[in-house]
Amino acid sequence: MEVAAPGKINLVLRCGRPGPDGYHPLVTVFQAVGLREHIRAEAALPGQYTLTYTSGAQGLETDSTNLALRAAHALARHASGRGVPGVPGVHLTIAKEIPIAGGMAGGSADAAGTLAACNELWGLGYSRRQLTEVARTLGADVPFGLYGGIAAATGRGDTIEPLEVNGLYHWVLCTQNFGLSTPEVFRRFDRAYAAHCAPAPLTAKERADIQSGDPLRLAGVVTNDLEAPALDLRPELGDTLAALERAGALAAIVSGSGPTTAGLCLDAKHAESVARIVLEAQVCARAIVTSGPVPGAFAPGG
Ligand code: C5P
Repeated sequence: MEVAAPGKINLVLRCGRPGPDGYHPLVTVFQAVGLREHIRAEAALPGQYTLTYTSGAQGLETDSTNLALRAAHALARHASGRGVPGVPGVHLTIAKEIPIAGGMAGGSADAAGTLAACNELWGLGYSRRQLTEVARTLGADVPFGLYGGIAAATGRGDTIEPLEVNGLYHWVLCTQNFGLSTPEVFRRFDRAYAAHCAPAPLTAKERADIQSGDPLRLAGVVTNDLEAPALDLRPELGDTLAALERAGALAAIVSGSGPTTAGLCLDAKHAESVARIVLEAQVCARAIVTSGPVPGAFAPGG
């Protein structure tokens, strides 16, 4: 069984003060982009859960702390709890395209892809809604990995409302040779920027602009409360954002908690030109041209 799970960028990310569980209330809009994890699941003996990465996983552990393996365990446990007899184990093989610790939810995509693949492999027949309940126990970004597309999200970022969008948005994603720790970026946000208990909901105009498919309208909407704290921790990201804008991007934002930055472009040709200019400026490791929305790990009909 093979499944592709997309990385994400946040078109909007508004953040409130953390609740008693330490999580921050979010108003966010995710877009799934064409950088994907490829997850293959093969049946193994009951109780056996193993994982091999074939690419892009330098330094990642493949022990029981790994989020994809935790996802397989969690789904097997959930199924057993519902009385499904003799759930087998799984051997996972993952080829990674999404940067590690990049603010694009690569680890969450591995988990979402594992849930979707094991659901098929084990013949569980869970709906997307049922898988989402397991997904949100694994991390705030895991549910969106199942949905893909473009979606508004609230709560921890795990209550998902898919948005229909009229077209594709084209991006240049600038990756870095360093990662940023998501909890650290949130902590910096709390110390220096947290102003409101609850983030403001999406306005009707924001929704309409996001759904328009018009990059010029989207450019006026993109915003990220985690950008300032990410820039405090890694000031050189300011150079990447400035280079994207100088290269002609309609808007440039930090993706999630960073350090990946994203430049919005008019079309694929414009994105190629922006990527070339940004690479010449030597402000990033890679400049990747991509577009979206793309489907999630649990595609409609999948
Ligand atoms: O849910 P996940 O494990 O992906 O989140 C990683 C970390 O990001 C959390 O431990 C928490 O520090 C922070 N986080 C948060 N509020 C959110 C989502 C994540 O503070 N809504």
